[in-house]
Amino acid sequence: MARKKQTKVVKHKTLAQRADKYALYQQAVQEPGHEVEFLGRLYRRLRRRPARVLREDFCGTFAVCCEWVKANKVRGCRAIGVDLDPEPLAWGRRHNLAKLPKSVQKRVQLVQGDVRDRAESTLSGAGADILVAQNFSFWIFRNRKELREYFEAARSHLAPKGLFVLDMLGGHEVLVEDHQDEHRMRGKLGATYVWDQARFDPITHHARFHIHFRFRDGSELRRAFTYDWRLWSLPEVRELLSEAGFARSTVYWEGTSKKTGQGNGVYSPRHKAASDPAWIAYVVAEG
Ligand SMILES: C[S@@+](CC[C@H](N)C(=O)[O-])C[C@H]1O[C@@H](n2cnc3c(N)ncnc32)[C@H](O)[C@@H]1O
Repeated sequence: MARKKQTKVVKHKTLAQRADKYALYQQAVQEPGHEVEFLGRLYRRLRRRPARVLREDFCGTFAVCCEWVKANKVRGCRAIGVDLDPEPLAWGRRHNLAKLPKSVQKRVQLVQGDVRDRAESTLSGAGADILVAQNFSFWIFRNRKELREYFEAARSHLAPKGLFVLDMLGGHEVLVEDHQDEHRMRGKLGATYVWDQARFDPITHHARFHIHFRFRDGSELRRAFTYDWRLWSLPEVRELLSEAGFARSTVYWEGTSKKTGQGNGVYSPRHKAASDPAWIAYVVAEG
């Protein structure tokens, strides 16, 4: 009996199947070099001395912690990263921390825990000069009680004269449901980063966002990250900071480029601003 010839089917994985979502996230969303420069400059301007201890809440792959210890070689400069999820922490150990020299690695401490846990001391009891919570991560807290508790815990982790730095996003474009923003990323994957505003409820201000990545072979890493957040406003956040005991909070608003009419990446203290369809700002709380 003649044997049927077997043809071997070689299945190639798509770019999406081969993609590393944390590497893509860092490339698309984060600029640790800029953040560390901004934070260091901010502290020096306000305190007339360099900051040493940085704490990064909701640190994920703790790219900012790694950049902090790399950029600040002065004795006593350290970073602590706190996140609930062991997965991004493990990724960060393999890909971010491992790239630093051993002596520098020692200056990063990681805590897998809740940012609201007051018992988490910042590196041998010394408070943080700067505590930073980035990429709107504190929006995970969806009512005033939860957010105030987080702000109280954050305050307890600061050194005397420490700064608590939060970023915020707003403008009417952020409230548009079922809206996607696409950004081409550099690199050989030819990936596109997609910020998907899936849902917004005007009664509760609860919103759902996704991050997808699309590739040049037509494949897609859908919902690489999903966020269920409350969209807080600047005045609400500042009132809660005050209720949590901070003496002052200042909004750092982005300047406008004369050439393009777009944001110029330079943030300075402001009391008032003109309406803006989509803005990112920092809030700096102290005292
Ligand atoms: C949007 S990611 C932020 C990652 C990174 N810090 C950045 O700026 O891009 C939010 C992170 O917050 C963490 N997270 C959420 N709730 C938390 C909590 N209560 N305590 C600590 N980490 C939390 C998640 O595990 C996730 O890694």
